[in-house]
Amino acid sequence: MGQKFYVTTPIYYVNDSPHIGHAYTTIAADVLARYHRACGHQTWFLTGADEHGVKIVKAAAEKGLTPRQLADSVVVHFQEFWKFLNISNDDFIRTSDARHEKRLQAIMERLLQRDQVYQGKYEGWYDEGQEEFVTESAARENQYQSAISGKPLVRYSEPSWFFRLSQWREKLLAYIQAHPEFIRPESRRNEVLSKLADGLEDLSISRSLAKLDNWGVSLPNDPTHCVYVWIDALSNYITALGYPPIGQEGDQGRWDFWPASLQLIGKDILWFHTVYWPCLLMALDVPLPRTIFAHGWWTSEGKKMSKSLGNFVSREVITELCNEYSRDAFRYFVLREVPFGADGDFSRQAFQLRYNVDLANGVGNLLARTVNMIGRYFQAQVPQPDPSAGAQPVQQAAEALIAAAGPAMEQCRFNAYLDKVQDLVNATNKFIDVTEPFKLAKDATQRQRLGGILYACAEAVRLVLSYLEPFMPDKAAEGLSQLGLAGPRRLDQVGRWGLLTPGQALGKAAMLFPRKL
Ligand code: MSP
Repeated sequence: MGQKFYVTTPIYYVNDSPHIGHAYTTIAADVLARYHRACGHQTWFLTGADEHGVKIVKAAAEKGLTPRQLADSVVVHFQEFWKFLNISNDDFIRTSDARHEKRLQAIMERLLQRDQVYQGKYEGWYDEGQEEFVTESAARENQYQSAISGKPLVRYSEPSWFFRLSQWREKLLAYIQAHPEFIRPESRRNEVLSKLADGLEDLSISRSLAKLDNWGVSLPNDPTHCVYVWIDALSNYITALGYPPIGQEGDQGRWDFWPASLQLIGKDILWFHTVYWPCLLMALDVPLPRTIFAHGWWTSEGKKMSKSLGNFVSREVITELCNEYSRDAFRYFVLREVPFGADGDFSRQAFQLRYNVDLANGVGNLLARTVNMIGRYFQAQVPQPDPSAGAQPVQQAAEALIAAAGPAMEQCRFNAYLDKVQDLVNATNKFIDVTEPFKLAKDATQRQRLGGILYACAEAVRLVLSYLEPFMPDKAAEGLSQLGLAGPRRLDQVGRWGLLTPGQALGKAAMLFPRKL
């Protein structure tokens, strides 16, 4: 058995359509999944939809729909959008799936058996946008408004079932301290550690079903209550793998993928994923995921995204950009523009600039020059390598990329990975400018050297495209076919200098990234 890689995204609320925030995490997970598959690792990539809770019930009521009708109509937007963006998820879980609901109830039963849940009364402030109870002091600090959305907090008072969260605080602290890779980046880890130092209260994990239009997963021991939406949602990461096993539904084998290698989230849902989630797993005696990575947030044209400001990077806006520039350009942009973990700003100008500089003038131009010159001077056949070509700077840049790729992916440093790709593109374009193959082509005595130069260029482009493939699957395949190479390619096999076979026929040249004015 090879190495296993299990990556997840948050499951998205179906009260609204997808936007750049959802696309961002999902593209990142897709790139990682594609990279690991290309390395020959057994890979599982899960995404899905979070369909219960107040948010959905309210949004449905506003539209005159039942929650199920709303969920059924909006979930399709996500599923279609992921296809459009070429997302290669292996599974898509909906919290309204029977497979999830049954397993969630079995999880609740386990928690009850282990005396992890007790009945109490909840009274306090609730942030309906975040689906989260807020302590009196935190509520006061924010003038009884949501710290995230600014909307007024709502006063709740009801009987509720509680999870003995406070009991796990010491163990969790010890775990986070002993496992520096558990919460990333480091700044987020520190944030969680310092908040945990303030203490931890037990967590209300049930809601009255009557107040939720009966939309939720009922508790096995109290049919009037359903599971709190966050507990419902977090458990998707294991129910989708067939945990706990119930009946014979054929998906139990996936449990081998647990613990997750990497769970990607946005910074706003850090606490749920790094405190509630691991404590729940400890209470179930299930091992913890290896890494929870929280990325930053996108603003748009310098401001917080908002529909009323007209700067909302919606599914429609992204679709239009992809139609104009290609979906691969969008996939590339979001991971190239901002270090993963930091906040970033989306702007059309920045997008077009990156496109023209990195893609049209960079890899696109390099590919076109190389294929055209080999076409013209060597009848479109890969020439012989030659030591007199002076291609060491190109080969060194290629080797730097090969060495950096694995560690960069391991740390979700997508922009560092892409920097190395760009370095190789730049080194090769410079090599062409300096060696001037078009001049050498006029001198018959230079033929061998000319061949060596173009061999090195073709080899560099081959590596550039191979390493870009997880980010830009379509464009990389198109480019590689211009080099006469067909997929599928395994990075662990093709990621070495000098693998192009002299004499091999190239395909047809075509512009990969036409310049945009
Ligand atoms: N349903 C919960 C997650 C449950 S996971 C067990 C949820 N859903 S969400 O649809 O509201 O948000 C999903 C993700 O989108 C979050 O990771 C959030 O950080 C991300 N983003 C929402 N707006 C964003 C930006 N403007 N920029 C980047 N990511 C953002 O929360």
